[in-house]
Amino acid sequence: MNWKEKLKLIPKTIFYITFVGSVMPMYLNISKGLYNNFIATSISFYLDTLFLNWNTSFPAVTICELYNGEKLWDLSEKYFGIDHDLRLDDVVGEIVYFQGSCTACDTCDNQNLTCPQNFTQLLDMFRSNCSELIGNCKYNNNFIECCDHFQPLRTEYGLCYAFNSNQANKAAEVAYINNRRAGAGHLTFEVTADIQLFLHSPFEIPFLTADGMIRETVLQGWNKEIIITAMEVYNHQSLSTIDMDERKCRFFTERTDLGSYLELYSFYSFSTCIVECAFSIHLKFCNCSNHFLAKEGSAHYRMCDYEGLMCLTDYYYDILEERRQCDCMSPCEEPEYNIIFNSAEWNMKRKSDLTKIRVGLAELPTLRYVRKVSKTNLDLLSKYKYLHMYMGVNV
Ligand SMILES: *[C@@H]1O[C@H](CO)[C@@H](O)[C@H](O)[C@H]1NC(C)=O
Ligand SMILES: *[C@@H]1O[C@H](CO)[C@@H](O)[C@H](O)[C@H]1NC(C)=O
Ligand SMILES: *[C@@H]1O[C@H](CO)[C@@H](O)[C@H](O)[C@H]1NC(C)=O
Ligand SMILES: *[C@@H]1O[C@H](CO)[C@@H](O)[C@H](O)[C@H]1NC(C)=O
Ligand SMILES: *[C@@H]1O[C@H](CO)[C@@H](O)[C@H](O)[C@H]1NC(C)=O
Repeated sequence: MNWKEKLKLIPKTIFYITFVGSVMPMYLNISKGLYNNFIATSISFYLDTLFLNWNTSFPAVTICELYNGEKLWDLSEKYFGIDHDLRLDDVVGEIVYFQGSCTACDTCDNQNLTCPQNFTQLLDMFRSNCSELIGNCKYNNNFIECCDHFQPLRTEYGLCYAFNSNQANKAAEVAYINNRRAGAGHLTFEVTADIQLFLHSPFEIPFLTADGMIRETVLQGWNKEIIITAMEVYNHQSLSTIDMDERKCRFFTERTDLGSYLELYSFYSFSTCIVECAFSIHLKFCNCSNHFLAKEGSAHYRMCDYEGLMCLTDYYYDILEERRQCDCMSPCEEPEYNIIFNSAEWNMKRKSDLTKIRVGLAELPTLRYVRKVSKTNLDLLSKYKYLHMYMGVNV
């Protein structure tokens, strides 16, 4: 090749350099767009109507006892004597029904009131246990042993009792399933105190600010009936082949690092994630968490004493504020419950000490969501091929 021929190549080279220079960013841009598009649309939902063989979990039913002044005074007289210091009642009330702050705890720490130090024992003394609280349980008109099925569940409301809950039973399968063979389930039972009633997904737990959870205050002697419909999300097998960030949801088996460290709950769900996050905020501010969640004698954290509770009280608003920043991914198992009948409050005269509660599914669901991966990596590859053809580049 002589210098004349080389010279002829110069315009060609310049052309290539400018062409590639101008086109390359655009090319990269398009591939990035395609890639993002692929990521963004890799999960799709559709409605499934082939309902004949579905198994639908009966919702979890959780009961949490509410503060009752009269009962507290009676027990206080029983345990501390008729002439006990009345400031003790305020302290015990705030501890046994702890709501995030304890203003009366100050009297124990800074004044000459001797307060009970063992909170676990205090809870045993002042909160009803399952057999005192719940009786006469029937599922689909068959008697069941109440306290075998309503299992204790630690929550931000204290120890609650939960029916058909994976978290309380520490089991991946629920006990009560509704299908064509079993029919739509209903549960009836009686309670002996003012309670808060929660209906929720078997993997969730009641938590403070539990928006979107069915929640009713049922006072002693008032009866309650709630009929709901259920719609579940079925997760297609293909979902387990992609990672959590693409899937945009967490399976119940995928506990967070914090969750496995704290060991408060056995499975991942949105609510347990929030509660664990709140717990870690308590530890951050006060190096302890309250007696509702913290287990005695854990190696990883301390249960708050009076000083600790006063610290939580001082930081009450800061803790609330940080709790709002808790970033929890939605769970993959996320059934939707809607109330279709909710009995009005009646029996205002409180003739009875027993509250009859009935919770049921109106019918077996005929619709469910299916979550699946709509595109596989092969699709992405073929898109690249089209892109390369379009750009006239060989790969
Ligand atoms: C539904 O549950 C029954 C047990 O109650 C089980 O034998 C059956 O395989 C389940 N069906 C599906 C589709 O999961
Ligand atoms: C301390 O206790 C005594 C009697 O036991 C009482 O008279 C006094 O008022 C108490 N002091 C405070 C600050 O509560
Ligand atoms: C508190 O009381 C419970 C029993 O109610 C007991 O098991 C526990 O050891 C006590 N804790 C302390 C620190 O004394
Ligand atoms: C529940 O409390 C009652 C009364 O305090 C007691 O008799 C009963 O043994 C307790 N049951 C359990 C399972 O602890
Ligand atoms: C926090 O609590 C742990 C025990 O769980 C203890 O070892 C540590 O010294 C405490 N830290 C502070 C700053 O009090």
